[in-house]
Amino acid sequence: MTDQSFDHAKAEAFGDQLIGMLNQGSLALMTSIGHRTGLFDSMAGLAPSTSQQIADAAGLNERYVREWLGAMLTGGFVEYSADSKMYWLPAEHAALLTRDAAPDNIAAFAQYIPLLGSVEDGIVDAFKNGGGVPYSGFPRFQEVMAEDSGQTVVPALLSDILPLGDGLVERLQAGIDVLDVGCGSGRALNIMAAEFPNSRFTGSDISEEGLEAGRSAAASAGLSNLKFEVGDATDLGYSEQFDLITTFDAVHDQAAPDKVLASIGRALRSDGLYLMQDIKASSEVQNNVDHPVGPFLYTISTTLHDCFTGSWR
Ligand SMILES: C[S@@+](CC[C@H](N)C(=O)[O-])C[C@H]1O[C@@H](n2cnc3c(N)ncnc32)[C@H](O)[C@@H]1O
Repeated sequence: MTDQSFDHAKAEAFGDQLIGMLNQGSLALMTSIGHRTGLFDSMAGLAPSTSQQIADAAGLNERYVREWLGAMLTGGFVEYSADSKMYWLPAEHAALLTRDAAPDNIAAFAQYIPLLGSVEDGIVDAFKNGGGVPYSGFPRFQEVMAEDSGQTVVPALLSDILPLGDGLVERLQAGIDVLDVGCGSGRALNIMAAEFPNSRFTGSDISEEGLEAGRSAAASAGLSNLKFEVGDATDLGYSEQFDLITTFDAVHDQAAPDKVLASIGRALRSDGLYLMQDIKASSEVQNNVDHPVGPFLYTISTTLHDCFTGSWR
């Protein structure tokens, strides 16, 4: 007996999707490599060039560059003339792949795929035994996150995000106490501390690596109104000490977001303001089916979330 309900066209279409997944997954890794090696940036400034010329311009090994170009050509990223053996990156593609293209530089976000993949063993173990991989177990997490927020949050901070708070910019200019929870490498804080010298800024995070990057940037900029402290967002230990508390991309990945919000509430003065910038998605999976980066977001949240301050709910 054949199963009449088995839709062969549906199975075939899904098979095509899976083959596409192998190619797109491979391209995500190659895109990350193209970003980290500076190959996209180099190619954007070059006329059609041989693999040797591209490797020389980027200061890289030609044999590796040639194979990477094979992936980029077959993946539709670059174009090629078999007669001249020259490759080029179309301007329309460079506009989405180079550092100059920020905030539209998707290649910077592609770094998350190999970064998340590098902790796969620990995540498989967590599926079986619970727990998780700590932020510190992700090589380069703070570096990639800083690059991410450096091309998303930071450019919009002064022009779009802070003006959302009624009278907030004026209060910052006059001088208030500000706390950024889960500040990571502190890029947003460094921008705010420079822009509002009368205000006093504190960055709090569990990551020493992130805090150290923030301290070093503040020292280079000569900022004396900014300090960084190790702190657990679920129990900040402050009581009515801040006029403004911010979280940038720092609540969605909490194991116990309710505890974080309560802790922030205790740290705020009675007329204080809490400003949260976070992922625009739903807690109900069915509402995310058409989300443009749904699988990407669920992959990040499966692998990368606070796994120490409470059980994941
Ligand atoms: C997605 S990153 C955002 C970092 C930064 N706000 C930015 O926009 O670049 C989340 C940050 O929250 C920090 N974090 C996670 N759980 C925390 C906790 N329980 N207490 C304090 N920080 C925490 C991580 O170390 C990480 O730096």
